[in-house]
Amino acid sequence: MTTQIQSEKSLRVALAGLGTIGGATLRLLQEKSDSFEQHCGRPIKIVAVAAKGRTRARAFDLTGIDFEDDALKLAFREDVDVVCELIGGGSGIAHTLCEESLRQGKSVVTANKALLAVHGMTLAALAEKHGGQLMFEAAVGGGIPIIKTIRESLMGNAVTSVQGILNGTCNYILTRMRDDKGGFDVALKEAQRLGYAEADPSADVDGHDSAHKLCILAALAFGCEPDFSAVSIEGLRQLTSVDFDCARDLGYSIKMLGTASFHEAGLAQRVCPCLVSHASPLASVDDVLNAIQLEGDAVGSLVLVGAGAGGKATASAVVGDLVDLARGHKVNPWGCPVSDLKKAKILPEKERRGRWYIRLHVTDQAGVLADIAAILRDEAISIESLLQQGRGPKTSVPVIIVTHETNEATLHAALAKIAKLDSVWEEPFCLRIDTNKD
Ligand SMILES: NC(=O)c1ccc[n+]([C@@H]2O[C@H](COP(=O)([O-])OP(=O)(O)OC[C@H]3O[C@@H](n4cnc5c(N)ncnc54)[C@H](OP(=O)(O)O)[C@@H]3O)[C@@H](O)[C@H]2O)c1
Repeated sequence: MTTQIQSEKSLRVALAGLGTIGGATLRLLQEKSDSFEQHCGRPIKIVAVAAKGRTRARAFDLTGIDFEDDALKLAFREDVDVVCELIGGGSGIAHTLCEESLRQGKSVVTANKALLAVHGMTLAALAEKHGGQLMFEAAVGGGIPIIKTIRESLMGNAVTSVQGILNGTCNYILTRMRDDKGGFDVALKEAQRLGYAEADPSADVDGHDSAHKLCILAALAFGCEPDFSAVSIEGLRQLTSVDFDCARDLGYSIKMLGTASFHEAGLAQRVCPCLVSHASPLASVDDVLNAIQLEGDAVGSLVLVGAGAGGKATASAVVGDLVDLARGHKVNPWGCPVSDLKKAKILPEKERRGRWYIRLHVTDQAGVLADIAAILRDEAISIESLLQQGRGPKTSVPVIIVTHETNEATLHAALAKIAKLDSVWEEPFCLRIDTNKD
């Protein structure tokens, strides 16, 4: 009888995926089970799990927990209240499992940003329709509680901008490139050796992972649909040691930033390496740490820094969602009903203003700099500083230009003209100088 009452009171959880995050979540739930029961007023109980390899050796105890070979079966189990999707991937089994679990009236907790960035609206609509909850604190910033902060704690604010270092792999590579001066390939190899980067690092270093996270944050901050296709994305493969040396001399760090800002003319969302002033709190966030900076009209500037990935930190966020569910906390996944979310207008290129750092490789001869300056003058781009690095007759030398504020369309027009000069050896490379407002 006692057991019966206990099992009716428990929040009954199924874990799909027992890898880095699934395994750490299971361990955390087991280690702190007494504390959860005390704080939620009822136990959180893992009743079933699913993974790809049933016979794979696992560093945790699955005694008394059912193992499903087909993860989709978790969606149909009558003894499950919440399915925790910790498999990953923007489509396939993760997608099917989340949809079907919500259709069955269960709640879903997921850390899957790739899935939410593209299917977040349909999943939220299913949750609304069938009465489940969709929770995803672990999808952005790992252990940093940014989803709840924006969706719930900052309700008294109009958020005007949200930006952050959203990918620990990129941040680690940039830190190594700055400190060791070894170049992108060397830094990437070190990140792979330490397990910070995948064998195929493209989702991280080409900016897609950060873009998934950014569009989730933008949707919550500005009350619009998550729109991954509207994020402009640049990776960090083109950065060289010249950029790090010049950025330092100019008073900047180089950080891979995701930035979303709301303007009358539309929403700007971009992920790209940027020059960040040494005075910014983001400039000193190094290695694998993540950081998110928000501007709210009531609270002012807010910065959250912490472990953006890793088993324990991310499991902390997954478990936070489970505790909310155990307590009976209910909230619209995107902060308001799906029908109230509108597709945001994209800010046109000519409205996207900023200052830029431009790196050129040019022939070291008289008149070259004058030609470049003339093009910038004709496009009404004013130069804040122009620096030629070293001397090298008959070879190319780097020239660094810092512009005053202009718009992106004008900048691109000028760079296209500069690229055509005979004295310019390779495609001009530019980095946005972050101002935390454009
Ligand atoms: N790793 C991080 O630091 C981190 C941080 C934040 C968010 N996330 C997100 O968390 C999720 C999980 O990431 P992870 O790093 O834990 O991945 P992972 O270590 O690769 O684990 C994936 C798990 O999914 C299982 N799996 C794969 N295909 C399956 C299938 N068809 N059916 C059932 N199970 C299947 C695997 O089973 P086997 O164990 O049998 O191979 C494994 O247990 C992803 O959405 C990721 O983006 C990860």
